[in-house]
Formats: sequence, C-alpha cells, structure tokens
Amino acid sequence: MDIVGLGYIGLTSAHVADWRSYAPDVLGMQVRPSEGETLLLRMDDRHHRIALHPGQQERLAYVGWELLDRVAWDECLRILEVAGYTADVADRQLCDERAVHAMAWIIGPDHVRHEFFYGAAFNTHTFLPGRPHHGFVTGDGGFGHVVVTVPEWTDDLDRFIEKVLSFKWFGSGADVGKRRFYRPKRNHRTHSIGYSIVPGLLGLNHVGIEVNDLDDVGIAYDRVLERGYPLMATLGRHTQDPVISFYHFSPSGFPIEYIHGGIEDSTAHPFVEGKSESLSVWGHKFNTDAPRTATVYAATESVGR
Ligand SMILES: [Fe+2]
Repeated sequence: MDIVGLGYIGLTSAHVADWRSYAPDVLGMQVRPSEGETLLLRMDDRHHRIALHPGQQERLAYVGWELLDRVAWDECLRILEVAGYTADVADRQLCDERAVHAMAWIIGPDHVRHEFFYGAAFNTHTFLPGRPHHGFVTGDGGFGHVVVTVPEWTDDLDRFIEKVLSFKWFGSGADVGKRRFYRPKRNHRTHSIGYSIVPGLLGLNHVGIEVNDLDDVGIAYDRVLERGYPLMATLGRHTQDPVISFYHFSPSGFPIEYIHGGIEDSTAHPFVEGKSESLSVWGHKFNTDAPRTATVYAATESVGR
C-alpha cells in the first residue's frame, strides 16, 4: 500500500470548549470558524488536520491516512480486501465532513479506526495561525504522529503494519520491546505512527505536532506553564529521533508532544536502524506528579456513522 502520510485525526472529547482557546493560544493552530459542534483545527492550508467531536469520553476516534490519488486509493481497497479486511466506504455526507473526495475505513487489530482517503480539500494562502507562529511541518510527509498504547504486539498487528499498510520500521527508541515506530514507505519522516506496548492498556499514548521554529516550542512551553496544563516531560532532545520537544497534557488528558527539528530525510539516517541506549540526550525529565490515568483511553469509538 502506498500511503503518503498522516492526513488527519479525529478525537471525541467532553472538553471541546477548552480546546477553543487552548488550540490557538497554546499550540498556535487555527480554529476553523462556524463548523457546528465539531471543532476543526488547521495547521496549514488544508481544510483541517484535527477534528474534535463532542462526546462523553476522551477517545481517539479515527486516524486518516492519505493516498496520493484515486488509483492509489482503489489499490488500497484491493489490498485491504485481499488481507481480509472489509472496508466500509464513506457516503458523500461523511466525505464532506472529512473534506475529502473519497474515504473508506476499517478497525485495525490495534482497535484503532483507520481511515484511508484521497483528495483532501485545501485553500491556498488561507492558513492563519492562532497566535504569532512560524507554522507547522506538514507538506508531503503529512503532519506529526500518533502513538497508540496496545496491550501486546500480536502477529496480526505486525502483519497489518508491515505487510498490509507497508509501513517501514523506524526503531524503538530506548525501549526495545516496549515501543515500535513506523512511517509510510514513501515518507521521509522518522515516524507517523508509534505503538507503546503496555499489558492491560489500550488507547491514545500521545500526539506529536512538529513546528518550523524552535522559538515556537519555547513559547508553547511558556504558555503551558503559565496556564497550568500539567507537564508530562520537560524540554529535551531525543536520542534516536533527535528532535527537541516537550510533552504536556491537553485539555482532553492525553499528552501532546510539541516538536522542532525533525530529520529532513530519515530514509538514509543511521539512527533509524541503530540501537539507542538512552531516550534523550538531555531533558525529558518525567513529571512524577502527572495524572497517570491520562494515558488510558479506549481507541475504538467511531464517529460519523
Ligand atoms: Fe512522539
């Protein structure tokens, strides 16, 4: 399967109202005006990248994988079928909600609703960040990454990621056997999805958002501290994926990693296959007072149908 990158994600939240100020003021995202109860957040000229649907619980509702065009999308559906997954094809109304030409979805062996689409709506020169900001890293690599917690790494999940989605291995950070990171094969990023393997847990581990300028990481860090959002980990530089980032808890409880300095082309980078001996070069000191329940979220609730 020839996935371009991570196109969008959807979440349900009982705290959508809090996101209306948090997303622009802290993260620098643009709130798309007047779109009903669902809060749509922009990171570039795409219609939106993150959708927050009002709900009773905090959940990862879906992950949207972008295919290049109709041909690649048709091929994607064939590959899913051959692999034994029956995809539901979205009707016009749901495609309009996602702002794409066509979309189909399955529930993966990770219990995540994976959506496959092509033809995302965009409007050139219309992105206005929510605060003074140098913009987000999106483009042909998609945006950021999601890391999902699963109770175990199964043969089914391994086959799904490596054979069905054709994702490439990135590494496991410093936690061999406990974490796995992957990217679409054509993608130059280090990872678009990751898995944290924790017996007994299932849900959203964190969402990574990458920005163009280090100062925007510093400004977000200041605003997180000023507004009292709990830190999960202090500023630091990772070892295997040598970005500068920090982790804090969003109004929905799950952590956001706010990042600068990704590798330009990870496909030829020696750290990719290397065995990292430490999580970070410096920093990323974990906040032991943080609410541990914040990482425990079921990831299966579907939205839109
Ligand atoms: Fe991350």
